Amino acid sequence: MAEVRLEGVSKAFGKTNAVSEIELTVPDGAFVVLLGPTGAGKTTTLRLIAGLEKCDAGSIHIGERQVNDETPAQRDVAMVFQQYSLYPHLTVRDNLAFPLRSPILKTPPDEIERKVREVAEVLRIPEKLDNKATELSGGEMQRVSIGRALVRDPAIYLMDEPLSSLDAKLRAELRIELKRIHDELAATLLYVTHDQIEAMTMASHVGVLDHGRLVQFGTPRDIYENPRTAYVAARLGQPRINLLPADVFAGAPSGAHTIGLRPEHVEQGKGEEATVSRVEHLGDQTRLHLDYRGHALTTLTDAHTPLQRGETILIRSRQALYFDADGNRLT
Ligand SMILES: Nc1ncnc2c1ncn2[C@@H]1O[C@H](COP(=O)(O)OP(=O)(O)O)[C@@H](O)[C@H]1O
Ligand SMILES: [Mg+2]
Repeated sequence: MAEVRLEGVSKAFGKTNAVSEIELTVPDGAFVVLLGPTGAGKTTTLRLIAGLEKCDAGSIHIGERQVNDETPAQRDVAMVFQQYSLYPHLTVRDNLAFPLRSPILKTPPDEIERKVREVAEVLRIPEKLDNKATELSGGEMQRVSIGRALVRDPAIYLMDEPLSSLDAKLRAELRIELKRIHDELAATLLYVTHDQIEAMTMASHVGVLDHGRLVQFGTPRDIYENPRTAYVAARLGQPRINLLPADVFAGAPSGAHTIGLRPEHVEQGKGEEATVSRVEHLGDQTRLHLDYRGHALTTLTDAHTPLQRGETILIRSRQALYFDADGNRLT
């Protein structure tokens, strides 16, 4: 596997700057997750690395090679697309073997069989090898399409929201599987998603994309605890960080425009009055929706809280984050 490096990479479609001046290093062996909402430039970034789009500016390096002028096949990357693209009339075995039968790779048949078996084991679908692709569940199909990337031994795996079409239970299962596969194969992985849980649970490094720009890159914990902007702060954390005018709580530093309070930054039982507007019991936790001086604020409380709508409680902030009028963090 190899390190992948983007230097000043930009790509526009007409007037839309899909990707702007991206500087990014995916270290060898890392599991990097690029996080951003729809339209942030995630797919374009992957397509640029895969060679399916050409950069307007900047350069892309895979290991020692500058690959800007290489074809997708020369670049030696394996991409998993958002919609699984299996050959429905072929068996799972033949779908998995397909990339290895390409004339460029010239893999010997017994090597193909060994590799297909190995990947089927890793994906926990060895008993499905003789099934037609059409006889699989959605989750199994997505495993096979991930498997079609895993049979290869590329410089890097690129994955474009591969779990987004699956139901919640399968997504949770495959998150754990992907993390395990990454550890087992010591693979280099660049994975893009709009799902913060995927970023938090799988990534060794998270990059946050905002309108084509990479606005922060770090460990999931660093991004959560030290967001550079209010936008970044709002990407991670459930319930979402509360962003309120800075002066509604005492103690705002000068220049503060917005106070950012994560649920754990709202201390209960002391301070100023807030009214309970809704109590949301989620089983293992309870979300408390409050009205504080005319502002909505969400925090967490004991799963078995007796609190009810309309009651008054006391709250105060602790270790809040502050942002200036442009959304930049004050430190
Ligand atoms: N082939 C294309 N033609 C025109 N606009 C495109 C094309 N591909 C992407 N875009 C635009 O570029 C921006 C980024 O798109 P994309 O990379 O698909 O974002 P994401 O994957 O994060 O949702 C969007 O505004 C999108 O509409
Ligand atoms: Mg996309």
